[in-house]
Amino acid sequence: MHYPEFEVTFEARLQTHTDAYPHAVEYHRARFNQTIQYLFSSILEQTDSLIQQSETSWAHTEEIVSDILYCGEITVEQLFALEIPNQLTADRDFEAVKTKLYETKYYPISEHLNYISFPPALERKAFISKHLDCFKEKSRFCDLGFGPGVLTAFILQQNASWQVGGVDVNQHCLHHAQRLLERKIVLDRSELSVGDVRSLHYPDDTFDGVIAVEVLEHIPYPKTGLLEALRMLKPGGYAITALPVQLPLLMHLYDFDSPDEVSALYEKVGLKVIDFETKEFQRQAGSFIDTFALSVKL
Ligand SMILES: C[S@@+](CC[C@H](N)C(=O)[O-])C[C@H]1O[C@@H](n2cnc3c(N)ncnc32)[C@H](O)[C@@H]1O
Repeated sequence: MHYPEFEVTFEARLQTHTDAYPHAVEYHRARFNQTIQYLFSSILEQTDSLIQQSETSWAHTEEIVSDILYCGEITVEQLFALEIPNQLTADRDFEAVKTKLYETKYYPISEHLNYISFPPALERKAFISKHLDCFKEKSRFCDLGFGPGVLTAFILQQNASWQVGGVDVNQHCLHHAQRLLERKIVLDRSELSVGDVRSLHYPDDTFDGVIAVEVLEHIPYPKTGLLEALRMLKPGGYAITALPVQLPLLMHLYDFDSPDEVSALYEKVGLKVIDFETKEFQRQAGSFIDTFALSVKL
C-alpha cells in the first residue's frame, strides 16, 4: 500500500470510532501526524549526513559494496532482499548456530557489511594494523574464523612476502573469502579451508602469527581454541585476538564478564600479553566492551 492510500485507510478506520471514542481518535490522529513528521525528519537527517560524507568515505563504501556484490555473486537488489536468518533460539547450541546462521548465504555478507562503518569491526582492523610491525619478512599467519576474509586480505596486502592460512567452520565464508582474496590478487599466498578452531590440522610451532578475532566466544570453551592457537604458534610468535565482554548474543556460546577475565585467560594458557586495549561500544540493547590483545608465546 502506498502512503496516500494508507493515509485514507487510516482516516477511514478512525472515522468508524469517532462516536464511541472521540478522544482516542484525536489522540491517534495526532500521533499519526507526529510519526510521519518524525520519519520525514529522520530520513532528511540521514540523507543530509550522507551528502556530507567525505570523498574517502564514499570511496571506502564503494569498494566494500562492490567487493560484497562480487564475493556474494549478487546484485544490490538481491542484497537488500536477502532473508535475515531469525531461527536462532536461546539454547545456544553450536550445531544449531552453525546450521541456522553460519551456513547461510547471508552470514559472510552481513559480516562483510560491518566493515563499512560498524565501529567494532573498524577497531579490529585498526588494532591489527597497529601491530603488523611485529612481523618480519616471510611471516606465516593463521586466521582463525576468517569470516568474510576482510582481515585476511588486509594482512596479505601489507607485505608481498607474507602468507596466510586459516580455517572457518562455514563453507559459505570459505567461498566468499576466497573470492575476496582472488579479487585483491593475494589468493596465491593463502591457504584457507573449512575447519574448527577446537581441533586444527596444522602441526605444532607452524605460524609466526595467529589471528583469532571475534571467534573464540563462538565456542562453548574459548580456552580450547586458544590452546590450539598456542600450539600452532612458534615460540616467540604473536597472537592478535579480540573478544567481547558482556555481549550475550545467541551465537556467542561463552560470555566473558570482564576484561580482566579475558586477560587472565591469555596468561593462564601461557601467552604474555603485550598490549591490551578495551573499547566501549553502544548498542540499542545497552553498551558492551570489546577487548583487543597482542600477546607473545613464551
Ligand atoms: C564474528 S565472525 C568474525 C569473522 C572475522 N574474524 C572478522 O573479524 O571479520 C566469527 C566467525 O567465526 C566462525 N566460527 C564460529 N565458530 C567457529 C569454529 N568453531 N571454528 C572455526 N570458525 C568458527 C564463524 O563462521 C564466523 O565466520
